[in-house]
Amino acid sequence: MSNNARVPTYDSLDKIYATSALGKQGARYNNLIQKFTEIYGRKPDFIARSPGRVNLIGEHIDYCGFGVMPMAIERDCIIAVATTDQDTKVRIANVNPKYEAREFDFEGKEKIVTIDDTKHEWTNYFKCGYKGMLERAKDLEKPKGMYLLLDGSVPAGSGLSSSAAFVCSAALATIEANKLPLSKQELTEIAIVAERNVGVNSGGMDQAASVFSEQQYALHVEFVPRLSTQLVKLPETQPPMAFVIANTLVTADKFVTAPRNYNLRVVETRMAALFLSRALGLDHQVDSLKEVYDLYFKGDNSSSDVEKYDKLLDAAIQAFPQDKSNGQGYTLEEVAEMVNLPAQTLHERYMTRFPVETDYFRLVQRTRHVFTEERRVVQFAAVCKHADANTLQELGAIMNASQESCDKYYNCSCPEINTVCDIARNNGAYGARLTGAGWGGCTVMLTTEPNVPKLIKAIKDQYYAIKFPNLTPEELDDAVLATQPGSGSAVYVGF
Ligand code: GLA
Repeated sequence: MSNNARVPTYDSLDKIYATSALGKQGARYNNLIQKFTEIYGRKPDFIARSPGRVNLIGEHIDYCGFGVMPMAIERDCIIAVATTDQDTKVRIANVNPKYEAREFDFEGKEKIVTIDDTKHEWTNYFKCGYKGMLERAKDLEKPKGMYLLLDGSVPAGSGLSSSAAFVCSAALATIEANKLPLSKQELTEIAIVAERNVGVNSGGMDQAASVFSEQQYALHVEFVPRLSTQLVKLPETQPPMAFVIANTLVTADKFVTAPRNYNLRVVETRMAALFLSRALGLDHQVDSLKEVYDLYFKGDNSSSDVEKYDKLLDAAIQAFPQDKSNGQGYTLEEVAEMVNLPAQTLHERYMTRFPVETDYFRLVQRTRHVFTEERRVVQFAAVCKHADANTLQELGAIMNASQESCDKYYNCSCPEINTVCDIARNNGAYGARLTGAGWGGCTVMLTTEPNVPKLIKAIKDQYYAIKFPNLTPEELDDAVLATQPGSGSAVYVGF
């Protein structure tokens, strides 16, 4: 995909949403514009929009440098924006009264704005996008003042990337307000780094999916040697395939649980890479498993990708020493010895900016997940290219294997996710797995269009009716839904 392309500007919503969604979205945009006018006494100049995403395959491997395959969903973050030259203040309000209106000011070209990552404050996500873009705009003396009203429809903590949708639309709002000459590629790369300002060391999948997706396509995102995306046409099957997303409603906020979950996993994969560089005799010590892979196979053109992952995994498993804690993992001191670095150095390098709380590091299990998961991404992409009568079974089997690995080796599933996946598989899903960071949040299932109603009914009857019996019909429809690959970031001016 062209690297210099800019985020498109549209004057009609049918460029952004599927026909079936136009009525609902039209009413939502009108409401946003009307509320904006009530609050600020003027109309917005434009609306910046970025969607959430569902990841089809490739979980927890983007921050190791490996490719992943998400697609955007209809749920998104839309921000109505008006600008002023009178001041540099940013006034931000939300159509959801749960989020209080705030105001902050530009703090000069050096600092831009202060983000307190010890606080779980909703506007931090806006500040991340704002700061990231203005840091890049070296020539801009004074940014515009902004009036903002936001409407987010990606449920927070659901694994559908509400945070990336917010950061990317904030970045886009800032670009557009200040007429910054930034491409989609730059917007994405900056947003990836900028989002880490909230205190989670996340990879780049969500932002890439949010910005680059297009209707009807999944997106193969790769990170090495630099961020690149490729549209993947989902195969035409008989009956047509469909994806259903079901939220377990177990809230998994990455920010809250990061030290024991997300940030810890990132560190474990880095430690595994440090160890394998030494143990496998690579040229130099690296801390990403993708670099381990690249160095290990430098000059080997004879094996296929799938064979390479198998070979490397075998070599890695043999190289790891037995842990002394019955499979719980290694202590920091043990890891320090294994990677030949002082424990203090490891601590400073990997556990300070993004704090980590743990007694043990499970390097063997994490390595097993990462190499097999990337192998599954490669296989998934290959099946999409050559569809035949077994396509649904094959894609489903890959998704099921991913779920098993996330559960068993990456420990990022939870009982509710496992239950929903089981119900799905018993009711016509070829494959079912967690999507996003896990530890709650959403599952994604592969089924056929005619089976969608049966699958949704089964999940409502066998999961929500038992675990969340008091949900309203609207909440239920919000929790489990069929989804199509949606379009990525856009600026809307059709009003
Ligand atoms: C979160 C992160 C992504 C990715 C997934 C897990 O969504 O933001 O970068 O690591 O978890 O695959």
